[in-house]
Amino acid sequence: MALRNIRIDEDPVLRKKARTVEKFDPALHRLLEDMADTMYDAPGIGLAAPQVGVLKRAIVFDTGDGLMEMINPEITDSEGEQIEIEGCLSVPGIYGKVSRPASIKVNYQDRKGIRHTMDANELQAVVICHETDHLFGKLFTDIATEYITAEELEESGNMHEETL
Ligand code: NI
Repeated sequence: MALRNIRIDEDPVLRKKARTVEKFDPALHRLLEDMADTMYDAPGIGLAAPQVGVLKRAIVFDTGDGLMEMINPEITDSEGEQIEIEGCLSVPGIYGKVSRPASIKVNYQDRKGIRHTMDANELQAVVICHETDHLFGKLFTDIATEYITAEELEESGNMHEETL
């Protein structure tokens, strides 16, 4: 198990655009494994490579159905709207309401480079949108419509106290 440092707040790497992954090699596999370890340790339910200082288009997440790895994810379709409270491991202690599509279609590659398409909704759609935003240097605080405090979050019993 190898943990990497999670970049936070004003770290400039969080604002940079990640590059397309072209090599599906052991270095990529090590990165994905370290990202999963770091995410579970935090604990969080999603993590994008720029959050550990690596500008590659790779994300990991686990919304309760097991670990998912997505390389070069691209949201090709979206429908509807859901407004949920989000947090982010790179913006500790801050939670806010964000509008996301209710359902999305995402194309991605797995760690071997094989292409897949997935339909996602509810929390999974939120996480995939949040993490792919990180690949463009975008944070949820850029689009949050309202902030709430950690205390308010606790009182609301909202499921999104997990951070992404
Ligand atoms: Ni995040």
